[in-house]
Amino acid sequence: MQTLRDLPALRAAIDALRRDGKPIALVPTMGALHDGHMALVDEAKRHGRHVVVSIFVNPRQFGPNEDLDAYPRREAKDAQLLQAAGVALLWAPSVDVMYPAGFATTISVSGISEGLDGAARPGHFDGVATVVTKLFNQVRPDVAIFGEKDYQQLAVIRRFVADLDLPIDIIGMPTQRAEDGLALSSRNAYLSADERKAALALPRALGEAKRQMERGEPVDAALAQAVATLAGHGFGPIDYVTLCDAATLEPIPVLDRPARLLGAAKLGTTRLIDNIAVDPA
Ligand code: PAF
Repeated sequence: MQTLRDLPALRAAIDALRRDGKPIALVPTMGALHDGHMALVDEAKRHGRHVVVSIFVNPRQFGPNEDLDAYPRREAKDAQLLQAAGVALLWAPSVDVMYPAGFATTISVSGISEGLDGAARPGHFDGVATVVTKLFNQVRPDVAIFGEKDYQQLAVIRRFVADLDLPIDIIGMPTQRAEDGLALSSRNAYLSADERKAALALPRALGEAKRQMERGEPVDAALAQAVATLAGHGFGPIDYVTLCDAATLEPIPVLDRPARLLGAAKLGTTRLIDNIAVDPA
């Protein structure tokens, strides 16, 4: 596996990969890789694709009081995992390579990026859309793979890929979970042992609300119970626990179509998110 840090080297390496005619799959990451990321890499490898993984902790998607400085960085260990998994190229640019002096462009997706995390983290999805557009232009993949754990992010990416006519297939992969059900996330590394136990309340509260709604119980009561469960386990502030249309992410008061239940809340200093499908009978 080659690790590349500047654009001319990346372009040359991509051109070399393209010569055998096999498609190229990109897995964009911010590093601190876990089994969730490696499941994306496994999917990327299907159909004989060449796999490119990017590691870039993108400052533009962190708010001023968020965890940019604390975000785990362990590129050497990540590189070993990727090499063992058969990845062809690791694209690991510096901030100066990604955003050279004078950089002045933002990709902004209206509508689908405005609620939920878009409301709780102003500017977050502008940062994501801008860096993912750049990664797509840098690597020029045929396919790109993202996890459904960041369900709204995936929806935002699908939106701008369609709107900008980018010739890239976007594949969403189901959330990978620890044995006890907690969604895998690089931010789980921040949790103390007690917080790690309490964190389970998030998938459990969402699961219980899903069962209630699918049994026909009122959506608002199920959501209120989930919020109370989270608060009872020490979560707070709770940014949202919301039932949304699975495609548009518009909040829905009644389970009358395929839906997604999404939750985001802080546990101590760690912000956790999760989501699950909820389907009408
Ligand atoms: O999901 C992530 O890790 C990041 O948001 C992404 C897609 C790599 C963009 O920085």
